Amino acid sequence: MSDVAVPKLRIGVLGAGAISQAAHLEACRKARNATLYAICDAAEDLLQAVAVVHQPCTTFTDYDQMLADPNVDAVIVAIADQFHVAMASKAIAAGKHVLVEKPMGVNVEECEALTAQVGASGLTLQVGTMRRFDEGIAYAHEFITEEIGEVLSMRAWYCDSTHRYAITDALQPLIRTSGGAVRPPGDPKANRRSYYLLGHASHLVDTARFLCGEIVSLRAELVEKFGAFSWFISTRFADGSIGHLDLTMSVRMDWFEGFHVYGERGSVVARSFQPWYLRTSEVECFSESDGLYRRPLGADGHFWRRQVEGFADTILNGAPQRGADAHDGLAAVRTLVAIQRSLDSGEEVEVAGIVGAV
Ligand SMILES: NC(=O)c1ccc[n+]([C@@H]2O[C@H](COP(=O)([O-])OP(=O)(O)OC[C@H]3O[C@@H](n4cnc5c(N)ncnc54)[C@H](O)[C@@H]3O)[C@@H](O)[C@H]2O)c1
Repeated sequence: MSDVAVPKLRIGVLGAGAISQAAHLEACRKARNATLYAICDAAEDLLQAVAVVHQPCTTFTDYDQMLADPNVDAVIVAIADQFHVAMASKAIAAGKHVLVEKPMGVNVEECEALTAQVGASGLTLQVGTMRRFDEGIAYAHEFITEEIGEVLSMRAWYCDSTHRYAITDALQPLIRTSGGAVRPPGDPKANRRSYYLLGHASHLVDTARFLCGEIVSLRAELVEKFGAFSWFISTRFADGSIGHLDLTMSVRMDWFEGFHVYGERGSVVARSFQPWYLRTSEVECFSESDGLYRRPLGADGHFWRRQVEGFADTILNGAPQRGADAHDGLAAVRTLVAIQRSLDSGEEVEVAGIVGAV
């Protein structure tokens, strides 16, 4: 066996809140090519409690100090959506690579500025739409690109469940909280429409773009009844194919997520599971060339760890970026804003040129 040490990306995680405790800290510790070097949170009690569990090399309550540490190669920005761009931008300015939680930002202009800054820096920025690292979805992407020829149409749905918290409470570690946690002013989550678009449609839109490419125009409808919301969005893709996206918050049944893609020489059907099961999507890819269905097992369903490994591979080895890059993050936010503009106008909306916020 070789005793040559594998180079590891030294990661500083900004934010010791829910998503870091449930996903990123363990992902950094388990990743074959990364180490959890630092955790930073302004809430010292939370920081210390989380550090006891995850044992980083060091901790910071001050983000600028973490960025000034030359041992930090890259930062995971795992804080409220409203802070993403400002903190990702600081990291890039400090010469650190960035994995920023989804959505990349909360308005188009700030995402454009960050995308330009990243482009000029030569650093890697990846957006945390981790479904791209679900082996089943990655296989579907490859199959669509290589096997099925032209795409005719697609449907994708992302329907949260009214039973979400029973499931997540059973699966996640006990989440520590602190009264000292830094939060954006007001209560952005109180506006359910914008919160659901930013927080949840960001996954749906990214998956649709990952599978079928750029969304050039869309028309959205929204119905709200008994406290539930259903967005139906008709999309046109750059290759002339059409799509239907369904975001429903929340269905009175189990979590329901998946997609169909119909192509010239084959089709793909996929079912994804509540993310905290860490279970690879069930994907069936049919090819007209041999009349067979292919279905990957995807035994390794830890898409948060796989996301960190992909990020580190790009930075350490120059591997092609498999995760969403800044352009994808910007396009996703533009698409989310276009959904809202279409609802406002009742018209089909071109996505290019859309500015503003959801
Ligand atoms: N990928 C997914 O499926 C997924 C799932 C859940 C949440 N998220 C995203 O993760 C992000 C974080 O969500 P959360 O629920 O963990 O948030 P949270 O509010 O629970 O935690 C954020 C933590 O960051 C700290 N913080 C914020 N700004 C800071 C600063 N400048 N310096 C030091 N500490 C700072 C806060 O004190 C807080 O403890 C959100 O953008 C959310 O959309 C993604």
